[in-house]
Amino acid sequence: MNITSEIWNSPSDYLLSRAPDHPVHFFAPAALQAQAKRFLEGFNGLVTYAVKANPEQAVLSNLLAAGVNAFDVASPNEIRLLRELAPHAVLHYNNPVRSKTEIRYAFEAGVKSFAVDGFRELSKIQDIVPPAGVEISVRIKLPVSGAVYDFGAKFGATPEKAIELLRNVKSAGYIPSITFHPGTQCEDPQAWVAYISAAAAVACAAGVTIKRLNVGGGFPAKTASGAHDLEQFFALIDKAVAKAFTARPALVCEPGRAMVAESFAHATRVKSINEKGDIYLNDGIYGGLSEFPVLNVQRSYTVLAPLSEQRSKTKIPAQVFGPTCDSLDVLPNKLTLPIDIADEDYVIFQNMGAYVNGVTTDFNGYGQLETVTVLSL
Ligand SMILES: Cc1ncc(COP(=O)(O)O)c(C=O)c1O
Repeated sequence: MNITSEIWNSPSDYLLSRAPDHPVHFFAPAALQAQAKRFLEGFNGLVTYAVKANPEQAVLSNLLAAGVNAFDVASPNEIRLLRELAPHAVLHYNNPVRSKTEIRYAFEAGVKSFAVDGFRELSKIQDIVPPAGVEISVRIKLPVSGAVYDFGAKFGATPEKAIELLRNVKSAGYIPSITFHPGTQCEDPQAWVAYISAAAAVACAAGVTIKRLNVGGGFPAKTASGAHDLEQFFALIDKAVAKAFTARPALVCEPGRAMVAESFAHATRVKSINEKGDIYLNDGIYGGLSEFPVLNVQRSYTVLAPLSEQRSKTKIPAQVFGPTCDSLDVLPNKLTLPIDIADEDYVIFQNMGAYVNGVTTDFNGYGQLETVTVLSL
């Protein structure tokens, strides 16, 4: 990704002045730092950032500047990235499946916290990482709803299995902890309450006092229907932990989406409009809009005409395609757009900071992502 050193007032300032024909990712560092402070001040525990949500160096540097100094990493490359940028940052390797080579890399890079959800993964860690001072968090899963998509299908041990795993972690000499992830964009705070009470029941049944409880990412970012009251989520988590545990574990959270989404907007441009009124954008599901087919949330968007002309207030639903030759490259829901939208207009999507960098491909020769810094979005 290519980040500009100039700072613009707003996305429209840049688009009207430069008329870029490629998609542009607009980053507002002040918004990111404000959101980091919200987590740091509101969450009663250690705030770590899930790097996969947006591994861009400018994002990591701004989080560090805001006071976030612990990170959830998913791979050796993310470990390397952090070690280069912040050699002393605390790293939690919470992708529960790793090769032996990856475990060795993490160990040599000083990682002292790992998540597991299976006996084989635990024994791989035991073969490589001596237990002194090393935390192993057992990742549990529950059949709870509330998230836009559930992570339980891929990761997590059932409570019954987690009891055994936790006992094994403890008897192997590691620091025992529990972790969970309620699923991304989880809009129902009761999902955390259910997980916290299950985590307490697992620890109790295992006869193990856990050092920490990692309540995951999954915090919801703003959508077209508005922002979520994250402070309400934090308060509910705190209360649920106090109620469920007699020996209160220290808390950890690892937000990705809710930390970074709202500090980016993503501008696409109309390439063409056909006779039926279908719109072809210069970006689609293989690029910056890759989450649209998998994450069923309504995004806010606005239209900007290249000479700032006013577009009609009358809007109609339009089918929207991406730029590639693949017929799958279509947005799952129609967008409601001004009736007189035209070629070269911009469609600017809000809350686009998460899971865009890192998942954008160059399929069909597209996918060059320029990031422009702005004061506000
Ligand atoms: C272990 C772990 N932690 C945190 C996150 C971040 O989740 P979110 O972006 O929903 O906050 C993820 C996302 O995949 C994850 O796998």
